[in-house]
Amino acid sequence: MRGEKVALGPAGLGLIPQLQRWLNDFEVGRTTWGVLPLTLEDAEARYQRNTGEGSVSFIIYERPTMRTIGTTLLTEIDHRHRTASFGLVIGERDCWGKGYGTETTRLMLDYAFNALDLHNVMLTMQAYNKGAMRTYEKAGFRIIGRRREAHRLGGRFYDEIFMDCLATEFEGSGLSALHPVE
Ligand SMILES: CC(C)(COP(=O)(O)OP(=O)(O)OC[C@H]1O[C@@H](n2cnc3c(N)ncnc32)[C@H](O)[C@@H]1OP(=O)(O)O)[C@@H](O)C(=O)NCCC(=O)NCCS
Repeated sequence: MRGEKVALGPAGLGLIPQLQRWLNDFEVGRTTWGVLPLTLEDAEARYQRNTGEGSVSFIIYERPTMRTIGTTLLTEIDHRHRTASFGLVIGERDCWGKGYGTETTRLMLDYAFNALDLHNVMLTMQAYNKGAMRTYEKAGFRIIGRRREAHRLGGRFYDEIFMDCLATEFEGSGLSALHPVE
């Protein structure tokens, strides 16, 4: 899937060493994996989980160089209820704040709603992750609730934030143009 700033392609085994490097960067890992060291085996196990049954993972490429800069995924895909959970990591820190996260999130919502035919996509994040919250809101997610003081970091408690987006709320699909017309 191509956007203006990023492109998404299938995640293969080559992602594992990069995943390990990204998640061992404390600034990246604390918002996703946590603060424990991640071995190559841990990264591989995580990769296997995220590419197995009920999950779809992509590599995020920076355009136009096609440098690998992160990964994004849908997990817990449930075709009966048409729901899934969303995740995103831009692991190369020099790529933060350039609009890549917003565009990636929009491409993934488009994929969820218009390729997989899902209806509700949700995510969880920590309240201190202001960049993620703004990114997800810009892309179409809205806050639906919070679990109070459920995350502890640096001697403080933070709320866990729940956000979701419905297919009926998502605008500006690129993929719907590919749907057959009667
Ligand atoms: C969080 C993350 C996905 C955001 O992606 P990004 O490409 O850096 O974000 P964008 O450039 O698309 O920015 C979107 C909006 O968020 C704002 N923003 C980005 N980072 C911010 C920060 N650290 N603090 C405050 N606002 C921030 C931008 O200013 C922009 O808002 P604006 O258009 O009103 O100015 C990315 O930084 C990342 O992957 N971080 C590490 C892992 C992580 O936290 N993943 C999410 C776990 S829930």
